[in-house]
Amino acid sequence: METAIRTRRLTKRYRTRPALQDLDLEVPRNVVFGYLGPNGAGKTTTIRLLAGLLRPSAGSAEILGRDTVRRREEAQRHIGYLPGDFAVYRDLTGEQYLRFIGNLRGGVDRSFVDHLAKRLDLDRSVRVGGLSHGNRQKLGIIQAFMHRPDVLILDEPTAGLDPLIQREFLGLVREARDEGRTVFLSSHILDEVEAVADMVAILRHGRLVVVESVENLKARAVRRIDLVFEGPPPVAALRAVPAVREARSTGHTAHLVVEGSMAGLLAVAAPHGVEHVVTHEPNLEEIFVRYYTTGKV
Ligand SMILES: Nc1ncnc2c1ncn2[C@@H]1O[C@H](COP(=O)(O)OP(=O)(O)OP(=O)(O)O)[C@@H](O)[C@H]1O
Ligand SMILES: [Mg+2]
Repeated sequence: METAIRTRRLTKRYRTRPALQDLDLEVPRNVVFGYLGPNGAGKTTTIRLLAGLLRPSAGSAEILGRDTVRRREEAQRHIGYLPGDFAVYRDLTGEQYLRFIGNLRGGVDRSFVDHLAKRLDLDRSVRVGGLSHGNRQKLGIIQAFMHRPDVLILDEPTAGLDPLIQREFLGLVREARDEGRTVFLSSHILDEVEAVADMVAILRHGRLVVVESVENLKARAVRRIDLVFEGPPPVAALRAVPAVREARSTGHTAHLVVEGSMAGLLAVAAPHGVEHVVTHEPNLEEIFVRYYTTGKV
């Protein structure tokens, strides 16, 4: 299968300071890829390199096999791009702006533009200068999606959107993926990445810390589990299981915090007569915070 985005030792230095160092990424087609990292990690730098708006200091990037420097225009033709600081001519109305951009791209499906504007609840008759920050962001999202590009590259797309519109936007992202498109999006909001992304990468100080499927991250995440026993819970035995971080009991119930696989825990608990198991959603945030702050698992 063709790879949507590939980078090889992609590096960007501003003067001598490295903002991105030896990035090797391979994003398959037809996935939502979440790109995370603390402020200044190099997310926007990566995105601008992918969009062909910056020249790498070393290494290379490809969109659907087209090098973003040597075959820049071809590569750009396949992307929809939302910059982190989306700004347009203040004098145009939303409608005029979208028509203008649509014409530059050789015409777009008007009914799809109408559909996007409706989904995101954007009044296109207002001059851009008179739009709130969130409403301007909606315009940015529409121009990125409206020509149905193969690869969407979005820098903090939900910044400034209210929760209802955020949810609608995530719906658009899933639909794009289900139609075979690839969505690369940077974000600070872990919940939304967890809800929409198939894979995530975490960047720190310009270096890739981890690339992993959300499924695998979840398997490794910390979760709370309650086990209800027939009699008093064997707390000491449960606490001795390596994956168990915390164990306490109330009545016949053991309340546990478990990291990673539950297999060892269940093997220890089962002989004591487990009547009931209640698992709570894993907490990915802890994993992310650890990567963010230490770069380690
Ligand atoms: N035009 C520039 N000139 C000099 N340094 C820059 C320039 N743009 C970015 N940098 C530096 O490169 C590093 C990476 O910045 P970048 O904007 O890519 O981070 P980011 O991950 O997008 O952060 P944020 O979450 O705050 O948006 C930072 O140290 C930043 O100061
Ligand atoms: Mg940024």
